[in-house]
Amino acid sequence: MRKILAILLVLVMAFSLAACGASGSDVTTYKVGVAIYQYNDNFMTLYREEIEAYFKTLETDTVKYDITMVDGGNDMNTQSGQIDNFITQKMDVIILNLVQTSSADVLIDKIVAADIPLVLINREPLAYDADGNTLDEAYEGILNNAKVCYVGADARQSGTYQGEIVAALENKGDMNGDGVVKYIMVQGDPENIDAQYRTEFSVKALDDAGINSECLLTQVGNWDQGKGQEITASALTQFGADLDLVFCNNDAMALGAAAAIEQAGRVVGEDILLLGVDALDEAVKRVGEGTMTGTVLNDHIGQSHKAVDVAVQLLKGEAIENYYWVDYVKVDKAYVEANG
Ligand code: BGC
Repeated sequence: MRKILAILLVLVMAFSLAACGASGSDVTTYKVGVAIYQYNDNFMTLYREEIEAYFKTLETDTVKYDITMVDGGNDMNTQSGQIDNFITQKMDVIILNLVQTSSADVLIDKIVAADIPLVLINREPLAYDADGNTLDEAYEGILNNAKVCYVGADARQSGTYQGEIVAALENKGDMNGDGVVKYIMVQGDPENIDAQYRTEFSVKALDDAGINSECLLTQVGNWDQGKGQEITASALTQFGADLDLVFCNNDAMALGAAAAIEQAGRVVGEDILLLGVDALDEAVKRVGEGTMTGTVLNDHIGQSHKAVDVAVQLLKGEAIENYYWVDYVKVDKAYVEANG
């Protein structure tokens, strides 16, 4: 009898130790895998830092988040390997910023098959698969999966706001008075729906305002500041005073364009206009001073908090929606003056 009691006691102790975790207190630690398409991206740097910071604020004495964040280096194979590792490590939830939206299905399939909840961020998987079907058609059911969602902003809105900022100017963007708003479009990664929609809807907003416009050049700058500068510099040489307006799909490229404009001796607001998206601090400062015409707040705080909140809901086994949208905000000079 005594022996049995002793065995029982040992069993009870062993059980309670296992349930209590290493510290001996009652702590649950969730393993969170965060895969970022590329660390070397101004906007995604703010976004990923906020993911980590916000998870920290949600920790309590009994709930901890063990975050493993990895850099995809803008390489799909690297990212695919990182997702394999997350699956092997049995992450409790994955937050994924895709390198390639056209391969979204491959990664989503793996994660769903491993029964790990998934929050996609920033790059909406709305591209085409190898057969030319949109992922919605081809993978109907995947984004409708109860444990998969996308958190992002509707890029059409940001493009529209860029065009509306131009349309609201007294000269409606016609800086040299030749009757046509001649622009260049410095594009982000063309596979990215944000780049596609911003390109399309900025110009649509000009059309909708009855503005006569002409595209002098569309060139891919891949979201990168240095490329934005190169493209704008050569366009300024090629088109000279004909060029009224530089649309950039993001602020990083717009900051590069601003440097090229200054080097060419042109002056934003006087003989040329410059628009970006994201509302990076430096861009907002420029809008306030007038060295950029406008930008659009891509709310990395709202998006990262929503992504984390939904991840936490998934960890608790709560029901979620499949799409969460965070609004953009138009940032022109008046907005900066009013909001400091
Ligand atoms: C941002 C860009 C960023 C891209 C990364 C976009 O929403 O506006 O600045 O480079 O996301 O995917």
